[in-house]
Amino acid sequence: MTRRIPSILVAAAALVGGAALLGTPAAQAGNGVVTAYTLVTPTSVSKTKLQVRAVIPAGINCPNLVVKKGNGSTMSLSMKMRSPGVTTGAAFASTRACKANIPKINAGITSARVGPVSVPFSLPARYDKIVMLGDTGCRVDDGTTPDIQDCSKTSGTNPADYWPLSRNSVAIAKEKPDLTVFTGDFFYREDACPTAFEARCGGSPPPIDSFRFNDTDYGWMADVFIPMAPLFEAAPILAVRGNHEQCDRGGNGWFLFFEVSTALGPDACAPPTLGGATVPNISPSWAFDAPITNGRSLRIVAVDSAYGRNFDITSWVDTQRPQYEAAQQLSTAKQGRESWLLAHRPMFGVEPIEEAATGLLPYTSIDQTAASYGLLGNYQMIIGSHVHVSQVVKVPNLPVQMVVGNGGSKPDIASESSYQIPAYGPLAKADGTALSPSYTPYGKPSYLWTKVKYGYTVMKPGSKAKQWTAIQRDYTGKTFATCSLVKKDMTCTNSG
Ligand SMILES: [Fe+2]
Ligand SMILES: [Fe+2]
Repeated sequence: MTRRIPSILVAAAALVGGAALLGTPAAQAGNGVVTAYTLVTPTSVSKTKLQVRAVIPAGINCPNLVVKKGNGSTMSLSMKMRSPGVTTGAAFASTRACKANIPKINAGITSARVGPVSVPFSLPARYDKIVMLGDTGCRVDDGTTPDIQDCSKTSGTNPADYWPLSRNSVAIAKEKPDLTVFTGDFFYREDACPTAFEARCGGSPPPIDSFRFNDTDYGWMADVFIPMAPLFEAAPILAVRGNHEQCDRGGNGWFLFFEVSTALGPDACAPPTLGGATVPNISPSWAFDAPITNGRSLRIVAVDSAYGRNFDITSWVDTQRPQYEAAQQLSTAKQGRESWLLAHRPMFGVEPIEEAATGLLPYTSIDQTAASYGLLGNYQMIIGSHVHVSQVVKVPNLPVQMVVGNGGSKPDIASESSYQIPAYGPLAKADGTALSPSYTPYGKPSYLWTKVKYGYTVMKPGSKAKQWTAIQRDYTGKTFATCSLVKKDMTCTNSG
């Protein structure tokens, strides 16, 4: 695959600067393509499991996906428009998305591009390296106490004082992964940058004040498409939806740009009326197979866990549970199959002790823990993010929980000593009694490892079945810990 700096860095910078610049030569040199990338889809959506997306200015036609075949000839496929819901109004008025599946070609494919942007076009026959990252956007939260990450700096020491996503993205591209897994939470620019914080987030595209959702197409440019361009060019991406992609937050961009199911369209999060409230939704669970060796295959089962509460049980459990039942079906035990559950909200995440509400334990996300109760036996491991750290939690007799939430969004609490094994297991209250009579609490974790360090995780299969190494790297690509997964257990060793 050819590698070069995509035109997005030029064209999208112009886009963020203002819609008036869209007609400039910089944008038109790429036939209007602002950026393009390749999503992993269910096989029911694309036979090759790959679908290319392009982001273009509104008002022009979709470009072609141009594929070069192994025999030297070229194939041009017209891309189909994905339009945001009309009730997203001015928030998504400036861009459209386009889609086309990577075709199955006997002679193979040697390159694929949309306009000037090269896109990933293949998945390997055997997987050696899967990179995972999540929780990536720059936090701009103008609450009672403003919580403002410094979006203007890409390196530093205090996690709140920089946003390393672009560097993380370059480091991941250098890994040349077979596949990138995104664990959820792209969108963090949920408020206008307060005047007092202009040195940190000035110029950050704000939401539209009167709308009851938080994202805009310019916000997605700033939080996702510009900083993640190197990563998107390097490998296909398998993404799950985070709570920051709830319909009342960044959901419109999620459905326009990243949703791969056909059950819910690009307008699935648009409010019923302009300026009205959005309606919660949930996209169907699906599975992806990654062959490792002859007779050994990884199955990643993706569940939409955008909604639900962190620390307690609500009626959302009833809406969520069918998706874990479907996931259980998808992960039915089979000779040679190793299944991982991929859901943004962890079943057994440990938040800092300071975050626990009165009378509750700091486990997250308890609505998901309840919704998946009794349905986790098929998995070797559960992958989530949501807590902005790198974490491993082992609850007895259950698959190990890995949290990959250190992609760039600032952690609530940066001190590692705040992440401790709670006195009782998940689904218990702070006094040890059950949160609900419907669920006997799980046992107290036997293992907790947490690192507060921006970066990503590289998964490499070991030589034996159900053995993997999870290499924890910082945003410069330097290894800071190595974790070993054997069957349903994982332990980590810090380096340096
Ligand atoms: Fe997050
Ligand atoms: Fe989250």
